[in-house]
Amino acid sequence: MKNKFYITTPIYYPSDKLHIGNTYTTVVSDAIARYKRMRGFDVMFLTGTDEHGEKLQKVAAKHGLKPIEYIDGIVASIKELWQLMDIKYDRFIRTTDDYHVESVQKIFKQLYDQGDIYLGAYEGLYCTDCEAFWTETQAVGGNCPDCGRPVHPAKEEAYFFRMSKYADRLIEYIESHPGFIEPESRKNEMINNFLKPGLQDLCISRTSFDWGIPVPINEKHVIYVWIDALSNYITALGYGNGKYNDMDYWPADVQVIGKDILRFHTIYWPIMLMALGLPLPKKVYGHGWLLIDGGKMSKSKGNVVDPVVLSKYFGVDAIRYYLLSEISIGQDGLYNNEIFINRINSDLANDLGNLLSRTTAMIIKYFGGVIPEKGAATAFDGALEAFAAETVKKYADHMDAYRVSDATADVMALVSRANKYIDETAPWVLAKDEAKKGELASVMYHLADSLRIVAALFSPFMPKSSEKIAEDLGLSEIPAWDGLFGADIAGLTVKKSEALFPRIDADKVLPALEAEAAAKKAAAEGRKPQEHKPQVTIDDFGKLEIRAAEVLTCEKIEKSDKLYKLTVDDGEGKRQIVSGIAAYYKPEELIGKKVAVIVNLAPAKLRGVESDGMILASDDGKSVKVVFLDGSVENGSIIR
Ligand code: MSP
Repeated sequence: MKNKFYITTPIYYPSDKLHIGNTYTTVVSDAIARYKRMRGFDVMFLTGTDEHGEKLQKVAAKHGLKPIEYIDGIVASIKELWQLMDIKYDRFIRTTDDYHVESVQKIFKQLYDQGDIYLGAYEGLYCTDCEAFWTETQAVGGNCPDCGRPVHPAKEEAYFFRMSKYADRLIEYIESHPGFIEPESRKNEMINNFLKPGLQDLCISRTSFDWGIPVPINEKHVIYVWIDALSNYITALGYGNGKYNDMDYWPADVQVIGKDILRFHTIYWPIMLMALGLPLPKKVYGHGWLLIDGGKMSKSKGNVVDPVVLSKYFGVDAIRYYLLSEISIGQDGLYNNEIFINRINSDLANDLGNLLSRTTAMIIKYFGGVIPEKGAATAFDGALEAFAAETVKKYADHMDAYRVSDATADVMALVSRANKYIDETAPWVLAKDEAKKGELASVMYHLADSLRIVAALFSPFMPKSSEKIAEDLGLSEIPAWDGLFGADIAGLTVKKSEALFPRIDADKVLPALEAEAAAKKAAAEGRKPQEHKPQVTIDDFGKLEIRAAEVLTCEKIEKSDKLYKLTVDDGEGKRQIVSGIAAYYKPEELIGKKVAVIVNLAPAKLRGVESDGMILASDDGKSVKVVFLDGSVENGSIIR
């Protein structure tokens, strides 16, 4: 029987489409799940959505929808995103699924019956408009941090979980299981900052909103987020319901989460499990954040990066590779378009892509496209073989410890080593000497074999590209782990490779990406996107002569609804201008006003009337407004 391996992601809030930061959590979990499948495990990979709570109810209302209508739409987009990103999950749980609701109510009831949950009162500073409680520190100056209105002390009946009862047991567990919290640096923080000072009982119900699972013994209350959300990891296996019968996957081997929710997963969740008499997960793995512009990506900051847009420009595997290689355990990573493009170009287009295209091209040129028998060994074969064997070992060690970014680096190192082997053996020199044909064959064989190993090792990270490498080598599938060494690939017919990862031209792609992001932002804000002109220098700007002028006369041009003929005093004398502002101003609204005029614009005739300059005005697409200057500005003053 296969060994079981259970891996989970957090369940995502479907308040909006997911961004590249949430995508990271899922991609890294998918890479681990795929690796474990490759190693022969019976894998259960769970992901899903966390669908209850006041915030979601409010977002839906803003869109004029019932919560479930709004959430269904977002959940569909999340599933599409996972399909696009090649996420091969085994199960997707929604906390609105009936079986989950049934289980959560059973869990609540059991904890209540055994005395771990009690009815108390939640006290805090209440904002009536937002229907939210705040602490003293949150409500700065006695005002609601959300809407700014005054808050007042209030009490609300609520159920509490007796966390304090389990604190000592949990401290002992964490201390005696060094691998439980990863990264280890966070372990002491949990113990010293949260557990040792004394755990407060956790408020687990609310009466102020109703978008949640009803408390089974008191329908006035709904269960507040964490009990509902955290239990997904076991209800999805069938705990407390008849939908599944998979509790033999529990305890989870690894629960992947972002560092912001580590406390919930290493304190509240273990205590819930202890109270239910279930074993704790083997590891809770809190990864760092993907930062953008030095800060966390957030919808409210408007700095989110959309993986769907990125995939159009770079392809899914490039995104996966970047995410997996960028965040190393215990640290934050950076998302930045330029760094991303450089990484694709150097690692994937250059190193990996070139190794593949050079190898297949040489096998076609020197051996008619068929991988030759090894022939006569060269002086460099042994070193490459040893490097490949060492790489596989290191890679497995890193993956077993979930050090995914280190494992990506291991494979890239083998790619570089194989490229170096081409330089060492100089096959184009060997090809000139018929006596060296055997050595040339050995070089081709070794290159193809290295790529075969690379395809296998990269397959959890870049599934499609790995398949393509295998296909170009004439393999019918990605090599199995057990067959990594000693397989005979002589006789396979290679294909001429098309660029595996085309080089990205940053000068073209960056402006296109920025324009797309700006257009999306504009659409979200309900306005038209701005069209930008190429950059100018200060000298370009200096070519314009803009001066203050006073409007002296203004009259309609015959047979035109749009045009006025104006005379202005530009400080030197009178100047005649035709301007398309007749639809927006009456003459008397203009006469006597000071305006900005481009005075060195080449004269033009409009409707037969000479125009000797242009009056500056703003245009928002709906109406035009003249840029009026302060009445005290001297006629003829330069504007720059
Ligand atoms: N619903 C809760 C989790 C409940 S689990 C029982 C939640 N959802 S979330 O949608 O806000 O976040 C889900 C995950 O995305 C978290 O692990 C969070 O750390 C991760 N990320 C959100 N932004 C991120 C980055 N910028 N970078 C990396 N991970 C990010 O929290």
